[in-house]
Amino acid sequence: MQIRLDKFLADAGVGTRSEVKNLIKRKTVTINGICAAKPEIKITPDADEVAVNGTTVAARGFVTYMLHKPAGYVCAVKDDRFPTVMELVPQNRDLFPVGRLDKDTEGLLLITNDGGMAHRMLSPRSHVDKTYLAVLDRPAEKTYIPLFSAGVDIGDDTPTLPARLVICDDESPEPGYLPEEYHAYSGLGCVVLLTIQEGRYHQVKRMFHAVGNEVLYLKRLSFGTLVLPLSLKKGEAICVELPKPEIFLKQT
Ligand code: URA
Repeated sequence: MQIRLDKFLADAGVGTRSEVKNLIKRKTVTINGICAAKPEIKITPDADEVAVNGTTVAARGFVTYMLHKPAGYVCAVKDDRFPTVMELVPQNRDLFPVGRLDKDTEGLLLITNDGGMAHRMLSPRSHVDKTYLAVLDRPAEKTYIPLFSAGVDIGDDTPTLPARLVICDDESPEPGYLPEEYHAYSGLGCVVLLTIQEGRYHQVKRMFHAVGNEVLYLKRLSFGTLVLPLSLKKGEAICVELPKPEIFLKQT
């Protein structure tokens, strides 16, 4: 795979895109011993030796963080009005959020500089499971289970893909993460786990709205094979290793 020299240097942590452009302009960067003339030159990281001031630069590769997103942060690289999730991870590595959670939604959010992985995780064809814990304004009814599994009309061109609904009751294991103010709801059938394979706009809220409920609280507990650890506090992020792509592809 070939990438631009300035992107390679920025990804490797040498500096920002404009800082590395300056280094190239000052003739301090070499490719296989030859002075690099332009930032847009394409290099092959596995084959070419890139050096700055004579020191070889090693490709730092991709990095992915799992963030426990708190409510109040928007999933954008920049925002004029609200704090962004990017403020909660190390800066300067071309990172971006993998998909979106609403501003008031909490839970597992991946932040990466690996565009290929992000695409695989988000592509509707990959059928990646995402499980959400939701607190509803009134108890979920058992009839929702077959409805959701058949697909719901939420006003889009096509119904939602089959989704798995579990209604938590007194016998269900404690789902964890339920904020203090929602504990009163836990025995009433208002707490549910919903697993979907798409990422449509406000999808979980719209699915419950379609059956006459409103979502009061929403948290994503898992994304593909990754599960939000109970030990990861709101606002904290950890580096994660992602399994090979095939694991995310639905077996047919
Ligand atoms: N569904 C929603 O309604 N909101 C989210 O943030 C994620 C899924």
